[in-house]
Amino acid sequence: MADTSIVTSTPFYFQGAWFLCPPVSPRGLEQVESFEVRDDDVFVSAFKKSGTTWTQQIVSLVTSGSNFNEVSKIPVYKRVPYMERMDLSGGPDAPPIISLLKDRPSPRLMKTHLPYKMLPRQAREGKGKIVYCTRNPKDVVVSVHNMSLMHDLHHPSPWEETLDNFISQPPQNSWWNVIPEYWSHRDDGNLLFIKYEDMKKDLRGHVVKIAEFLGRNLTAEQIDEVTANCTFTAMKENPATNMSRDPLMQEKLFKRGKEKGIEFVRKGKVGDWRNWFSPQQLEKFEAFHKEKMAGIDLTFEDEE
Ligand code: A3P
Repeated sequence: MADTSIVTSTPFYFQGAWFLCPPVSPRGLEQVESFEVRDDDVFVSAFKKSGTTWTQQIVSLVTSGSNFNEVSKIPVYKRVPYMERMDLSGGPDAPPIISLLKDRPSPRLMKTHLPYKMLPRQAREGKGKIVYCTRNPKDVVVSVHNMSLMHDLHHPSPWEETLDNFISQPPQNSWWNVIPEYWSHRDDGNLLFIKYEDMKKDLRGHVVKIAEFLGRNLTAEQIDEVTANCTFTAMKENPATNMSRDPLMQEKLFKRGKEKGIEFVRKGKVGDWRNWFSPQQLEKFEAFHKEKMAGIDLTFEDEE
């Protein structure tokens, strides 16, 4: 595998939002708006570190009719590819993932971190289905911070810096713009809005909800199987979801994490922010959150 192809990330702007290349492909982003959506396409969308992989695994297993053995032969990030990403193993000139999706058989499952307004036009018009997963921003920023400590494409920064950057992101990238926009589409027929904290409380109920939304008629036994294979422990132990057998991840991307003992499927807790925020940081964050979310009826559980 040509892992020498991965180079240091460079930030770039696209439609007012900033991205890092790699992993995001500028050429790929240009193809998103006009991407031809099929009726049975499923987009797993989430702000980074909000339960994307978890939702990808649930959607993938549900769509397969709970065929765990077959599904597990392929890592989750290949089964549900990151639409706007570039092929990290293929070099800078490799075609962007989105151009490869055109030839994929249905049903296509795709992951994205794009804001709602940057999704393919046809998806915004109601074609295909979008499962959107969101999470308490205090736990998101803690998870983002740990990602920055472990992941080669992210610049490791002190916690204070991660927190400041998270709060002061440009509007198009800001949690406080992106999440309310998806929330405003929660009643759209082709969008299912779920919360990480609710999934932690009732995973089985969410497997049922996702199966119903995707029009999959699973038996109670299949629902039980999907649930058992999507718990935190199951996903931490499964090489298809913990990336442990992936040479690119292990030898390159997550090398720093391995040295520090931080894993991709890390802690999976509601309320881990308590271990990171000082009282002053919490006060500032909550005041900011309250101001930005004024009039928006979206709340999150703070503990398990
Ligand atoms: P933590 O870093 O707080 O542990 P994403 O997939 O969007 O990058 O989100 C990653 C977060 O989801 C990580 O959070 C990870 O541990 C958590 N996660 C992954 N699988 C999970 C599961 N089955 N149950 C609960 N949390 C899970």
